[in-house]
Amino acid sequence: MSLDLDRRQRAMLNEMGVHVWWPQALAAAPQASPEATQSLPTAVAPAPLAVKPLSAPAQALHPVVNAAPAAAPVEDVGNLDWSTLAQKVAACTACKLSLGRRAVVFPAARAPGPADWMVIGEPPDDNEERLGLPFAGQAGQLLDNMLKAVGVRRWHPDGGDTPAAGSAYVSNCVKCRPAVARNPEPQELATCENYLQREVALVQPKVILALGRFAAQTLLQGSLPDTAGIPLGKLRGTVYRYQGVPVVVSYHPVYLLRTPQDKARAWADLCLARSVVTPA
Ligand code: SF4
Ligand code: URA
Repeated sequence: MSLDLDRRQRAMLNEMGVHVWWPQALAAAPQASPEATQSLPTAVAPAPLAVKPLSAPAQALHPVVNAAPAAAPVEDVGNLDWSTLAQKVAACTACKLSLGRRAVVFPAARAPGPADWMVIGEPPDDNEERLGLPFAGQAGQLLDNMLKAVGVRRWHPDGGDTPAAGSAYVSNCVKCRPAVARNPEPQELATCENYLQREVALVQPKVILALGRFAAQTLLQGSLPDTAGIPLGKLRGTVYRYQGVPVVVSYHPVYLLRTPQDKARAWADLCLARSVVTPA
């Protein structure tokens, strides 16, 4: 796989601690400090990757969960336009995660339209809830830098751009922050997935990047038995399908901030996702 990284992109990767072995870079980087040069040869070329046959049928929709706490189950949202979908999400009380939320994390300002990439993260944290934006703070910056390094720009609902080739629509696997720090329950993931399905249908991404184990669980539980029991690292390196869209699993940037030694693996995952969008 070839990646045409310019100096800015390589600098970004270096800053992230992802050292890509790049012969031309070594030859054409007289400005690099000796330490930087020494750190370059750490090869992180993506390992051979198993690509699942892409013909797997899109998984059936999860039924609306009828569990007790659901005050108002998610209605059929399969035909809604963006603004009606956003209104439904803002008023949703279909699972217990609604109980302590201050606001849902869902872009209501503007319909994203089609975007090449869709990035799905974990349940929103405090920062994301306050800003109403998935992947906020330092983790968001790391994600943005990693995306930039493969030539992808995050689409912002209140920005001026329209998503197009090379842009990413970002979202969370559930739209409400758990009021107390706890894992989302499988039923909560499945309930909120109704909205995610419609997001995918409206955004029409060419690839979905599932970051973190709950994002992976949400997207894969319909097609992979016992997804919740499989360590995240074992879900990497395979192209799955969700509603017919290729899905690549990787680490969440919050995890990468704590575990920088896995950034190289995350970089390999991004390269895999990029190869799906732009085949060599
Ligand atoms: Fe509704 Fe999703 Fe919030 Fe649960 S997490 S209340 S399903 S919007
Ligand atoms: N485990 C997680 O829960 N998330 C990650 O991103 C990586 C490991």
